[in-house]
Amino acid sequence: MAGDLLADIQAYCQSAGIAESTFGRQAINDGKLCARLRGGKSVTLATAEKVRKFIAGNETREPATTDRETVPAASPDENATSVSAVPDRPFRFYDNRQKYLAFVNTCNEKWKIAERATRELTHLRPNPPALRLFDAGMGDGTVLSNVMRALHQRYPTLPFYVVGKEISLEDIRLSLEKLPDRFVEHPASVVVFTNLHYSEAPWLRPKDVNKAAALNWQLVELDGTSAYEYGQHLGSIDDFLVDAWQTTASPKTGNPLYVRPSVMVIYRKDHKFLLDSVVPQPGQTVANYDLVVASQPWRARMNAEFKVKHVLSPLVQSLGPAGRLLAVQSFGRDPGLEIIREIWPDENPFTVNRHQLLKALKDKLGHAANDFNFNAYSDSKALIRYRMHTLPEEIATSIGTSTLFAAWNAAIYVAQIEDQKLDEAMSSRAHLDATARILHKHNGLWFNDESFVISRRSC
Ligand SMILES: C[S@@+](CC[C@H](N)C(=O)[O-])C[C@H]1O[C@@H](n2cnc3c(N)ncnc32)[C@H](O)[C@@H]1O
Repeated sequence: MAGDLLADIQAYCQSAGIAESTFGRQAINDGKLCARLRGGKSVTLATAEKVRKFIAGNETREPATTDRETVPAASPDENATSVSAVPDRPFRFYDNRQKYLAFVNTCNEKWKIAERATRELTHLRPNPPALRLFDAGMGDGTVLSNVMRALHQRYPTLPFYVVGKEISLEDIRLSLEKLPDRFVEHPASVVVFTNLHYSEAPWLRPKDVNKAAALNWQLVELDGTSAYEYGQHLGSIDDFLVDAWQTTASPKTGNPLYVRPSVMVIYRKDHKFLLDSVVPQPGQTVANYDLVVASQPWRARMNAEFKVKHVLSPLVQSLGPAGRLLAVQSFGRDPGLEIIREIWPDENPFTVNRHQLLKALKDKLGHAANDFNFNAYSDSKALIRYRMHTLPEEIATSIGTSTLFAAWNAAIYVAQIEDQKLDEAMSSRAHLDATARILHKHNGLWFNDESFVISRRSC
């Protein structure tokens, strides 16, 4: 029975042009369904029936395009980080969660990006009632929480309006964990998390009128005065988060889409009066950001036009007078890429540099480009070097296995190598030997990011 079911699924996937994992997720919310069936596992009758119903109900659907790099998806936003060039197996950031978490904890990239963002603060010209910050993809929240610390250091008495966009429930949880001490040190803070797309999130409003009407808007008024109390409160809203941050797979790309457009507004109850003009109201929110941080907001291999249309263009529109957008992406020319090329000599993940992006953005903006300054900077100013943490003397003596694995993980993560390609490369020890060679050669591992800034001219 499992074999029949698998054959039916395969036939369906082929005709619909979708990956098996996408099918599993759409049909029964289980991306590993086919892998399990193939491994000889059975499913319950109820599950089999659900699968067959799904197939029967979708037999007339449109086949998905195979040109995933240029898919004009219904919700383009999620493609920015997660579309694959491999036709039969879409890349999804959930697949790479383990790699992301290992990377952010073994390399200091997110700290370095926060440091770079901190240098922007001297240029900000905030206006009452608050300084306004937008994080265009919070990830685990390390960049955002560090920028908020730096903001407090520079502007200890200004109210802050901080909006973070993130579609991953797990990243929302990680980011929430980093908030309690921020509310203690800087009580005049309104922090908003949303799962809306790039073109919607800065304004906290879905573009589609039906979705806007269904917007799930939640206030979290924090009781108490201590980080402990705020931590307890934020930890107790998990049921709400699980519901509000549900995702579904895009039928075209398999990428995650929000099920319910959601906005969560958090502030200290004892500062409600003071923050009255800062707390956003549904449907009436302006963007006007003083600073937008876009750290690694796209798949490197996407073309410039795609990145501009779906990410940079809406983000620059959200800047207020003298507002600044800092963007950071991987650059290459580093030992990380050397590891990759030991295994795949022709690999070239970083195809669109900041100059090409800025040119494409100017073209897209047309006449409106006159409202902005485009700062590509020289390499010496634009590049951000970050390292993988190692123990003192470790590389010179004997490299521990965990360090080797961490280095390999960081290299393949940054170069965004597809899982399918990895399976072949990791069938022997060659990748670890190559990693060790490069670590010895450079006495450690480091990477380059590049940064650039677009600022709106003040009126
Ligand atoms: C919206 S983005 C970035 C989130 C957050 N701004 C950050 O920098 O971690 C989230 C996705 O970007 C990708 N990403 C984050 N850092 C990356 C890096 N250094 N190299 C390549 N991809 C990265 C991952 O797929 C991650 O799930």
